[in-house]
Amino acid sequence: MLFKPIMWIKKDPEKAQVFWPSDELKEKAWLNDETIYKEAAKDPVAFWAKLAREGIEWFKEWDETYRWEPPYYKWFVNGKLNISYNALDRHVKTWRRNKAAIIWVPEPPDEKERVLTYFDLYREVNKFANVLRSLGVKKGDRVGIYLPMIPEVQIAMLACARIGAIHSVVFSAFSGKSLKERMMDAEAKVLVTVDGYYRRGKQVNLKAEADKGVEGTSIQKVVVVQRMGIDVNMVEGRDNWWHELMKNADDYCKPEVIDSEDILYLLYTSGTTGKPKGVEHHTGGYAVQAYWTAKWDFDLHDEDVFWCTADIGWVTGHTYGCYGPLLVGATMLEYEGAPNYPQEDRWWSIVENCGVTVFYTAPTAIRMFMQWGEEWPKKHNLNSLRILGTVGEPINEEAWLWYSHKIGGGRCPVIDTWWQTETGGTLINSLPGIGPFIPTVAGRSFPGTQHEILDESGNPMSVGEGGYLVQKGPFAPGMLRNVWRNPARYKEYFSVYGEKYYYTSDGARKWDALGNIRLTGRVDDVMKVAGHRLSTAELENAITSHEAVVECAVVAAPHDIKGEVPVAFVTLKKEIESSDKLIKDLIKHVDVTIGPTARPDKIVFTSELPKTRSGKIMRRILKSLVRNQPIGDTTTLMNPESVRRLREEVGYEE
Ligand code: PRX
Repeated sequence: MLFKPIMWIKKDPEKAQVFWPSDELKEKAWLNDETIYKEAAKDPVAFWAKLAREGIEWFKEWDETYRWEPPYYKWFVNGKLNISYNALDRHVKTWRRNKAAIIWVPEPPDEKERVLTYFDLYREVNKFANVLRSLGVKKGDRVGIYLPMIPEVQIAMLACARIGAIHSVVFSAFSGKSLKERMMDAEAKVLVTVDGYYRRGKQVNLKAEADKGVEGTSIQKVVVVQRMGIDVNMVEGRDNWWHELMKNADDYCKPEVIDSEDILYLLYTSGTTGKPKGVEHHTGGYAVQAYWTAKWDFDLHDEDVFWCTADIGWVTGHTYGCYGPLLVGATMLEYEGAPNYPQEDRWWSIVENCGVTVFYTAPTAIRMFMQWGEEWPKKHNLNSLRILGTVGEPINEEAWLWYSHKIGGGRCPVIDTWWQTETGGTLINSLPGIGPFIPTVAGRSFPGTQHEILDESGNPMSVGEGGYLVQKGPFAPGMLRNVWRNPARYKEYFSVYGEKYYYTSDGARKWDALGNIRLTGRVDDVMKVAGHRLSTAELENAITSHEAVVECAVVAAPHDIKGEVPVAFVTLKKEIESSDKLIKDLIKHVDVTIGPTARPDKIVFTSELPKTRSGKIMRRILKSLVRNQPIGDTTTLMNPESVRRLREEVGYEE
C-alpha cells in the first residue's frame, strides 16, 4: 500500500464564488456546449479516435484505437506519424508558414527579441536533425538536453522527434550531478547544452555544470549553443559548437515514420524513493492529448499569443511550451529570465509589449506577485489578456481572485489545470467557454476521461467528501506508458486499487454532482515546492551524504508563497558542532547534489530523531511539529523524550 494519511477537508459547505463565462468568451470558444462531456463519456475510445483523426495528420491510420493489457495500454495501435511533421511541415504548407511560432524575449531588457516564424523553426529543426544524424544519433537513441529557455531547446526537442531519437530534457537549474544521474539512467549518446545564460542579471555558466554531468557517462558528443560568448572549456573530439555544426547542415531532413507507441521522450521526475524515475511518453497518444488540451483548455485561436511561463525542464514546458501550441499552429512566447528582472513588473511589461492573450503560470508565481504589490501590474496595459491558467499545486482562493481581478481585469476566467508529469497533458480543469470557474476547484475531467475519488477501501466518495484521486480506464492517450527500464515502478501506479485504476497520489474532494473536483495536495512523500516536484527521500539522501551528518529526515512545511518548503531535521556526528557555517555548507551541498530548487528552507539540528521501536524515523511527528499541529500519541516511540527535546532545542510549540 502506498497510502499516507491525508488531510481530510471539512464536510461543511464553504461559501464558494462561482463564475461563468461571459457571452463574448462563449461566442469565441471552440467549445461552449457542455453536452461534449456526455457525448465523450458514451464512448471515450471512439471520441479520442475522432479527435486523433481531426487533430493529427497520420502517415498511416491505426488498426486498433485502444488496447488494454493490464497494467499496460496502447493507443492508436500501428498508427504511424511524426510529431515534428505535425508541429511544422503541416503549417509551412499553409499561410502559417510566415506566422510567428516563437517570440523569444531575452532577459537583458536592451537585447532584441527574436521571432521565429513557422518556416524559421522548420528550417532550424531540419538542420539540427541532420546535425544529430551526423553525430551518429539514430532512431531510439537517447539525447540529453540541458538548456535554459532559449529557442534552441524547442529546436533540439523537435529535431530529436523528427529522427525518432528520444529526448530527455533536464532542468537547467539542476546540478551537474543530477544531470549525470539522469544521463546514466537513460544511457544518452549526445548532450545538447549551452555556454551560459542570464538569470536575474547574472551570467550562469552552464557548460561547467554540463561537463560534470557528462564525465563517466555514455555521452560521446556534446553540442554547445553559444548564447553568451563566454569562455568555456571545449573538449577536443567531444564538444562541438552548435553554430558551427549548423553552418553546413542540409536544410531538409525527411521525417522518420514513427509508430504511435514509439517513445517520444523521457522526463525524469521525483517519486517516493531517492532515485528519480524516467517517465516514458509515447508519440501518438501524447500528440493527440497535447493538441486537444492546448486547443480547448486555452481556447487557442490563430490570433492568440500564448505564454506558458513554465521552464522547459518540467512537463508543463514540454506540453504547453513546445508540443501543444506548435501542434495547433499557435504563436507562443518564451522568456529567458527571472520574473523580477530588472524590476518586479517584467512579466507584465512583456504581456503588454507582446500582446499576450493567454497566460499560464503557477500559483506560487501569483502569490509572489501579490506580495510585491499590485502597483507593478498596474503600470501596464494588460487588456490583451483574455484567458488565464494555473498549474502545479493547489491555488488558494485569495490568489485565484487576485489573479482574476488584478491581472485578468475581472474579465478573464482562471483555468486551474490539474495534471502530472505522468499524465502528459491536462486532465482536470474547467473549459473557457463552458465553466464554471470556482476558486480552489480545478473543474471536471477532460472530455473522454474519467476520475473518481475513493476512500481507503476503494469506495467512491459522495459530494463533499474527500479521498484519493484515481483515473479510470480507458486511460487518457497522453498518459505515461512505462517508467524507463523500471517496470516495477510503473506497476506501482496500478497497485493501490488494482489495475483498473491509475493511482495519482493526490488527495481530492468531490465538489458537486456536476463532477467538479477540488485537489488538496500530495498524499505521499513528494513535495511541491514553488510548484517544483521534489522527493523528500532524494533530499534526505543528499543531506546524509555530507560528511558531518549521521541521519536526516525531511518534511514539508506549509509556506505562504511557495505552498510548501522542505525542513530538514539533521543529527550530526558526535564530534561535530552545529554552526551557521555548517548550515551554509549543507545548503551548498544540496545545491551541488540536486540543485538550488531543492534547498531546505530550514535546517534543524537535533541530537535525536523520534523513532519507532523498530528504528524507523517517525516523520508523522516531524510533520506535526512543522505544522504546529498536535503531535498525538507518542507511546509507540522508542525515544518519546526526543519529542520533548526537539521542542526544547528547536522551540516548536504544541
Ligand atoms: O499534487 C499535484 C500537483 O502537482 C503534482 C504533479 O507534479 P508534476 O509532475 O511536477 O506536474 C506538475 C505540472 C503538471 C500533482 O500530483 N498539481 C498539479 N496541478 C495541480 C496540482 N495540485 C492542485 N491543483 C492543480 N491544478
